Amino acid sequence: MSVYLDHNATTPVDPAVWEAMQPYLREAFGNPSSRHAPGRRARAAVEAAREQVAALVDAGGARVVFTGSGTEANNLALLGAAPPPPGAVAVSAIEHSSVLEPARALAARGRRVDFIPADPQGRITPAALDGALAPETRLVSIMTANNETGVIQDIAALADRARARGALVHSDAVQAAGKIGLDFAASGVHLMSLSAHKINGPKGVGALVIHKRVDLEPLIRGGGQEAGLRAGTENVAGIVGFGAAAELARRRLEARAAQAAALQARLEARLRALAGVEIFGAGAARLCNTVFFAAAGIDGATLLLKLDQSGFAAASGSACSSARPDPSHVLLAMGVDRERAYGAIRVSFGADNAAEQIDAFADALEREIAALRRMALRETA
Ligand SMILES: Cc1ncc(COP(=O)(O)O)c(C=O)c1O
Repeated sequence: MSVYLDHNATTPVDPAVWEAMQPYLREAFGNPSSRHAPGRRARAAVEAAREQVAALVDAGGARVVFTGSGTEANNLALLGAAPPPPGAVAVSAIEHSSVLEPARALAARGRRVDFIPADPQGRITPAALDGALAPETRLVSIMTANNETGVIQDIAALADRARARGALVHSDAVQAAGKIGLDFAASGVHLMSLSAHKINGPKGVGALVIHKRVDLEPLIRGGGQEAGLRAGTENVAGIVGFGAAAELARRRLEARAAQAAALQARLEARLRALAGVEIFGAGAARLCNTVFFAAAGIDGATLLLKLDQSGFAAASGSACSSARPDPSHVLLAMGVDRERAYGAIRVSFGADNAAEQIDAFADALEREIAALRRMALRETA
């Protein structure tokens, strides 16, 4: 078994979540739209989960619409809230592909789309936002925390500015949920995306939190489920699992953050002792569970392979873009040069990680970096 250090890609389902889901895959299999008792039981379970997810982000009076993934929640936000022409859209340059791609699709259909640049630490500054807003901008999307760097944005301040210019604000909080406290109402955003499998829930279920005064166009039409915003018979067991995971995440938030912060400090102390290692976004507020770094002269893909062979599962950045040869768009947006960006390795901790695993990982890293550097020296000699 590998030591799993890739929790920003996905997390294991918590045993309590699995337990909660079981009945809804078997005896409680009713369709929530049915009026009979089995249907009503399924409906009650979906509504209870909605409350649990709402509580994780202090959603108050906002609506929670369940979707098939965080990706779908982002698509629903961007495409469903896209203003009619000539209304324009602005998204940050460091967004996940599930925000960038629908934004590009809007641009391909002739909509004006502006990309908000990041600073060298991966932050979206108020000045950068101001610079990217056009008089006709009606929708702004800025993520709460980045999946690669872990950098946390000052969403409340940014949302304030965007709202003052007459725009709706969406924030992808898929990575932030369960790692930092989220307060939907206080954040000032109109739309917030979440995903179950990043918080020890099942894969294939997400949610979009929607301010009560915001209307969206659905992406999927049919039987009118989820208040007409996401047709299709609900994934009851998945939704129940999401609810249970949200509840656990809310209760364990502080303990988890403290545990992750200790592991982060431990690993970063070792990284700082290594020659030529840069930790990206280290000057900004970051998620405690994320460390994104590169070692000078080392190719990230080669190092990841060596680490995998030694029993450590880390990542090169966004899991979805790992198969592509391009370096991280997040690092490029931060002004990191391509060569250095090719060296990037992301470590992301979860509840199942312990200090000894981090020490063993740092030992392996030190060994493999030294070996790769020796090999490079021999090749140039
Ligand atoms: C920031 C961010 N947004 C959205 C997603 C997509 O979520 P899902 O895997 O549920 O589609 C991810 C997953 O990698 C993510 O990290």
